[in-house]
Amino acid sequence: SEIFGESRQNSKGVAIDIESEWKAYDVKVQAFMDTHWKAGPIINGECLTGGAHTVVTPYDHRLKVGSINWSTPEQAKEALNVAAANVDSWRALSAKERGEYLLKLADLLEENLGELVALCHREAGKTIHDSIDEVREAVDFLRYYPIQAEKIEGDLQSFTRFDGQSVTLRSEGRGVFTCISPWNFPLAIFIGQISAALVTGNTVVAKPAEQTSLIAFRTIELLLETGIPAGVIHLLPGSGAEIGSVLTGDDSIAGVAFTGSTPTAQRINQTLASRDALPVPFIAETGGQNAMLVDSTALPEQVVRDVLRSAFASAGQRCSALRVLYVQQDVADRVIDLIKGAMAEMRIGLPYLHSTDVGPVIDETAQAKLQNHINELFKTSKFIAKAPMKSETRVGTYIAPVAFEIESISMLSEEHFGPILHVVRYHADELDSVIDDINNAGFGLTLGVHSRNESTYRYIESRAKVGNCYINRDQVGAVVGVQPFGGQGLSGTGPKAGGPHYLYRFTKEEVVA
Ligand code: NAD
Ligand code: ALA
Repeated sequence: SEIFGESRQNSKGVAIDIESEWKAYDVKVQAFMDTHWKAGPIINGECLTGGAHTVVTPYDHRLKVGSINWSTPEQAKEALNVAAANVDSWRALSAKERGEYLLKLADLLEENLGELVALCHREAGKTIHDSIDEVREAVDFLRYYPIQAEKIEGDLQSFTRFDGQSVTLRSEGRGVFTCISPWNFPLAIFIGQISAALVTGNTVVAKPAEQTSLIAFRTIELLLETGIPAGVIHLLPGSGAEIGSVLTGDDSIAGVAFTGSTPTAQRINQTLASRDALPVPFIAETGGQNAMLVDSTALPEQVVRDVLRSAFASAGQRCSALRVLYVQQDVADRVIDLIKGAMAEMRIGLPYLHSTDVGPVIDETAQAKLQNHINELFKTSKFIAKAPMKSETRVGTYIAPVAFEIESISMLSEEHFGPILHVVRYHADELDSVIDDINNAGFGLTLGVHSRNESTYRYIESRAKVGNCYINRDQVGAVVGVQPFGGQGLSGTGPKAGGPHYLYRFTKEEVVA
């Protein structure tokens, strides 16, 4: 769209008419959903479908996407048992052999792009651009991790003792991995975790977010189409509290890969600690209270573009999204004015229109939480701007992008996962205390910096305790294999998804002397 400067072009540079393409998909997909979309647990290749829970689309609650059966705790236990029984045979394959299944799945995702885009858009309410990016990111994970797994497998370390004894150090899969994913990247993060665990020789029980179980179900159907042994991957849709606690509380698991909110990670950590077994790796990729610092040398027009994309793209429902913009007082009025102007131009509406910048938030619970925070901000802070909403948004769960001036990041005690921007003015001599405030918030996911003074941005970057620092650009949209992604502090246990060292977290080392 115009605001986010996105244009889709084919290989000859001709613009693609996404709206017409979408309408063609939509007719096919609606027919498919009407007849097919009954999903449920998949255990050992068997789909236990049903219709207990109806899924409606976030942008129009009258539109049914499908229905799903939640898993029972007994089914979760059964899946864990089957996964455990298949660890040895799966681990015995080479990384290349395991990777072949993932590469086939990558091809299948591309072949089924239209259906997956439609499903992602319908179930998660993502714009078409975001839905296409979602499938692309999933494909990237599926092609990147097999390469890394082969490197790890080939990286046998050998040592020779003085008496000629030879010693080899090798890495292999740990056992059964529980993978728990969020709704905001219902395909990319869901399959990213699973592919990392599988390719390193683990078997997997996967629990997708309640809100986006249908796309997860379709993805596992496609994974099984690759011919992968059915005993190595099981899908357990269902309630986090009920199924999640079985999948993280069982003594048989060898590790947990979790992406979601910080409070849920803390709960899982307690469940893991309450087991009789010894600790296992817990990969937690969690929330953020992400800031951007803009000094007086920054280029205001670029700042505004990057602020809008970082704060409002995907309706602010990215862990990486900008929440608190710090602007140096000398340029604050100018930058805030430009933000106001740009927000007035934003289009909030149906996510299948090419012209839409921002679609709905995921559900009524999210909408109500965000609205409460906005109501509080109206009482305590200075209102800056609110983007206009189209009338069609009345039948969905929308929150118009909104901006307020606040005093400091310390006023925010939790992550507000939606299109709400908080702006703070600072003076040049306060830079150190601003960096301290951001660090003291305890999260550490992304930080944006806009400055044309190299010593300033190098200084900020060196002092900030964040996983991903972005200088003179937006701070969302990390690309697999290009910007490895992951936070520290309350934002995560550190591994970088889509980076060369991520897979080591899924392996154990053995020595043969
Ligand atoms: P969430 O924490 O509510 O849920 C995440 C998953 O955990 C879901 O599958 C849920 O069912 C499950 N779950 C809930 N309670 C559980 C329990 N007791 N035991 C086991 N599993 C349980 O998060 P969400 O609302 O789905 O996703 C949004 C959050 O995810 C935001 O906080 C966002 O910042 C974060 N996120 C982080 C990253 C990252 O890479 N750091 C990426 C995407 C999203
Ligand atoms: N990896 C996602 C991003 O960078 C969360 O926006």
